Amino acid sequence: MEEATAKRKDAHLDLCATGDVEPAGNSTLLEDVRLVHCAMPEMAVEDVDLSTEFLGKRLRHPLLITGMTGGTERAGVVNRDLALLAERHGLAFGVGSQRAMAEKPELGSTFQVRQVAPTVPLVGNIGLYQAVQIGVDGVRRLADAIGADGMALHLNAGQELTQPEGDRDFRGGYTIVEALVKAFGARLLVKETGCGIGPEVARRLVELGVHNVDVSGLGGTSWVRVEQLRASGIQAEVGAEFSSWGIPTAAAIASVRRAVGPETRLVASGGLRTGLDAAKVIALGANVAGMALPLFRAQQAGGLEGAERALGVILSGLRQALVLTGSASCVELQRRPRIIVGQLKDWLAAL
Ligand SMILES: Cc1cc2nc3c(=O)[nH]c(=O)nc-3n(C[C@H](O)[C@H](O)[C@H](O)COP(=O)(O)O)c2cc1C
Repeated sequence: MEEATAKRKDAHLDLCATGDVEPAGNSTLLEDVRLVHCAMPEMAVEDVDLSTEFLGKRLRHPLLITGMTGGTERAGVVNRDLALLAERHGLAFGVGSQRAMAEKPELGSTFQVRQVAPTVPLVGNIGLYQAVQIGVDGVRRLADAIGADGMALHLNAGQELTQPEGDRDFRGGYTIVEALVKAFGARLLVKETGCGIGPEVARRLVELGVHNVDVSGLGGTSWVRVEQLRASGIQAEVGAEFSSWGIPTAAAIASVRRAVGPETRLVASGGLRTGLDAAKVIALGANVAGMALPLFRAQQAGGLEGAERALGVILSGLRQALVLTGSASCVELQRRPRIIVGQLKDWLAAL
């Protein structure tokens, strides 16, 4: 990896491990969603079937550990620990941006997780504009090199504008997506990185043939904030101004599900921290709930064991939410009543 990319990635990991990267005022608006209690669930906890299909494989739990890292030794450990967790519990797993690997193929080993996660739906990762630089064949090589089932194309205009060395020209994005759809078909996933994909963009992506969208909305890790913490001068000030910019995750997933057909697989990530959060996004139309920061932090603080404990709490909460709404599956949960109040109601009236 170019020295600058390596240094930046390490600074990102340090900031995400302990820093204030979730601005207090940011909200997913999931607190504006209420699921309705069922006093007589008439089912056993083990009757709840949480399984779903993702990237052509079966998940035992509808969860994706979204792409975070790779490129350094420390990142390699994070990838292997979290991928192993995904394998044990039947989740999907994504590696972080493979740009490092495109620049220096010998760093590929830090993205390799197939030895510990042979059956998980594995998702590669590259930025939209880096995909232009390496071309469709370059992206295909990155996916093949790690044995990925799918490839995530990440959108991060907010982060780029706060990064001194970031992109300033965002033209031609849909043309790139179109070329990648031709190469990857239903294996392509388009994701944001915490500012959210809204219904207009989602509809256009689906029209181009995209099958999988991760809305990755506002309310959790803010990449504008991460870059603001690294920036100085004008960039830091403008970054502070925009660190709460984005479409809250609850508004993004509910509005995107209304805008696209049921055949589009939707991931909702961005600020999900509990099993109940995951249940709420599924109720709003997600097929899969995505999480990054909570599992990264648990791994950094307590290694594999710490991450497994954190995941255990999340999975128990999700199962409990299904039982207490009287839902034996995610599809049933989506048919149960839900109450939408407050700001989320305003967002959904506007989108
Ligand atoms: C440490 C860290 C590194 C990340 N790196 C990437 C990346 O390389 N590519 C990407 O698409 N998203 C990246 N993300 C964004 C996440 O995949 C996710 O979209 C976002 O953090 C929102 O989820 P969260 O609030 O659960 O963290 C990263 C997130 C974290 C916490």
